[in-house]
Amino acid sequence: SIDQKVTDLMAKMTLEEKIGQLNQYNDDITATGPVTKDADKAGQVRAGKLGSILNAVGVKNTRNWQDQAMQSRLKIPLLFGQDVIHGFRTTFPIPLGETATWDMNLIEKSARIAATEASAYGIHWTFAPMVDIGRDPRWGRVMEGAGEDTYLGSLVAKARVKGFQGNGLGNLDAVMACTKHFAAYGAAVGGRDYNAVDMSLRQLNETYLPPYKATVEAGVATFMNSFNDINGIPATGNKYIQRDLLKGSWGFKGFVVSDWGSIGEMIPHGFAKDNKDAALKAIIAGSDMDMESRSYINHLADLVKEGKVDIKFIDDAVRRILTKKFELGLFDDPYRFCNEKREKEQTNNLEHRKFAREIGAKSIVLLKNQTQLLPLSRTTKKVVIIGPFAKATVDNHGFWSIAFPDDNQRIITQFDGIKSQLDKNSELLYAKGCNVNDKDTSMFAEAVETAQKADVVIMTLGEGHAMSGEAKSRSNIHFSGVQEDLLKEIAKTGKPIVLLINAGRPLVFDWASENIPTIVYTWWLGTEAGNSIADVIFGKVNPGGKLPMTFPRAEGQIPIYYNHYNTGRPAKNNTDRNYVSAYIDLDNDPAYPFGFGLSYTTFKYSDFNVSSTHLKGNQTLDINVNVTNSGKYDGDEVVQLYIRDLVGKVVRPVKELKGFQKLYLKKGETKTVNFKLTPEDLKFYDEDLNYDWESGEFDIMVGTSSAEVQTKRINWEK
Ligand code: IFM
Repeated sequence: SIDQKVTDLMAKMTLEEKIGQLNQYNDDITATGPVTKDADKAGQVRAGKLGSILNAVGVKNTRNWQDQAMQSRLKIPLLFGQDVIHGFRTTFPIPLGETATWDMNLIEKSARIAATEASAYGIHWTFAPMVDIGRDPRWGRVMEGAGEDTYLGSLVAKARVKGFQGNGLGNLDAVMACTKHFAAYGAAVGGRDYNAVDMSLRQLNETYLPPYKATVEAGVATFMNSFNDINGIPATGNKYIQRDLLKGSWGFKGFVVSDWGSIGEMIPHGFAKDNKDAALKAIIAGSDMDMESRSYINHLADLVKEGKVDIKFIDDAVRRILTKKFELGLFDDPYRFCNEKREKEQTNNLEHRKFAREIGAKSIVLLKNQTQLLPLSRTTKKVVIIGPFAKATVDNHGFWSIAFPDDNQRIITQFDGIKSQLDKNSELLYAKGCNVNDKDTSMFAEAVETAQKADVVIMTLGEGHAMSGEAKSRSNIHFSGVQEDLLKEIAKTGKPIVLLINAGRPLVFDWASENIPTIVYTWWLGTEAGNSIADVIFGKVNPGGKLPMTFPRAEGQIPIYYNHYNTGRPAKNNTDRNYVSAYIDLDNDPAYPFGFGLSYTTFKYSDFNVSSTHLKGNQTLDINVNVTNSGKYDGDEVVQLYIRDLVGKVVRPVKELKGFQKLYLKKGETKTVNFKLTPEDLKFYDEDLNYDWESGEFDIMVGTSSAEVQTKRINWEK
């Protein structure tokens, strides 16, 4: 068995070789943290001082590294880890965008393809999925997660793990997934990256932890801890989080890698006095592998010899890591992921690109189509596209995609995508208008002049690909630079405008929301962005995306999320400011609510009923609703189920998502949607962290978004 093989190998290992397995360095390619230059990294590999390398990409490169490892005394193969976050050679929409599909099959398939391509490039391990609940769009990393909701986030987390790990480690197209960032990184104060997290254990358990736990249930191979502290204890040195909860109560059998330098960062946190102290605290807390802080390689051996660290902690970490290397088949053949032919086949896989186009179009959210300007006719005579994204390439990729030299040729620009679908007798004109983030308005005049010629103007605005992602928190989340001024200038021409918004987070665009009747949220869609956008604009695909995060009216509303508490003084309506919980200078509702998204068609909900209004004990509540496509196009609808527990021993949110179904309805077609609820769905954590439900009244709500629901009240007794 693998267990026996690990035992046998460990019996041969010196303490130094064991500690080497817990050490991970960067390959100097890309870096999101301080890089330490080593005189002789390869020599360290040969000396058995390195267990893993991150950012080593490509068959040639990984083969070279593995050659070094094969010269070490015990020939233990290296593990190659990489941030494969939304595709690899073929890039897909950012994870937040993919979540807008509410389609777990598509999300799983996207991860599956990413794993197929990455593993063909020698990669064994992706640092994904990121499952941090994100309620604060100032935090740049919301792009990488599944948004604000625990239920939806848990499903997405599972789907991604299944996709990455495919039919299981050992298959050549499977990579190890890595759930991150453990834990609660999304709750960084003020949305500022790397910042502190302070919250009740009740909130932590109820809102933030379930998606991480869901991935353990899905068999995730590894975890990454987080930069933040949780209630004063850095996650990396947090025994409760890592050893007691993750490895203890949840029974996680894989290993935990630190985030970049996060072991050493316990010094500036003020939790460790030096690197040696940091190493001591991290290993005891359950951090198994040290990414780039060198605390383990420099200090663990002394700590063991001095009797400060029990060898059992080292052995446990080594066993976990070696087990994964055996499961990947690396001991049978350390070069099994180094196959030039496979790599070549995945440089530009047309099937994968086709899928990227599909998931791209399905991630798009139609926010406004007030005048039914969309879909555009392909025979529109003169279409003008204006904005810094029209001919952009990497700005369509989004953050967390590896730069390949042929990116500029491979990414379909919005201009090219639209041009390819316009009738041959039509014209597509272009003006950039401004750069994505500058103060220069000198290109405005040319853009206005070009717009004057248009039958329809497509404005493509947003934020640049490096404005969301790690260390990309923004205090102002409007369109960057002078883009809004450009929009105002073009709007003055009176030409009909389709506004496309490219972003890695919910942006604030209040002026546009009030003044532009047609708005499409495109996120960052990846390699096929231009084609996906064109498919939606011309109606080849009827948009069906729904927002996975609440869009605020202004930064001052943040954090804003649909499942808030009612408070003792809830506002009666949107403009109620009479000594209620509200801002005196802003409406109470968000710009666009969680779960919202329009279609070119319309949907009518009818015959909403529940099987009983008085339930007892372990009964099941059946909920039915008819949904009719009452408009002119076939289309997708995501039917959402929310509940509210009216009185609890701890207060309950005004709504909690408990189910959804994505339907495809032909025009005129009606389908009946059925949901089932059991007492399991009513459970919550009380102040002593008991997880149970209580008798009482519940509102059952179904609808097209979190803000547009029909409600039935029921009573459920224990
Ligand atoms: O995986 C990432 C993590 O999400 C943030 N810090 C760097 C890691 C490795 O690139």
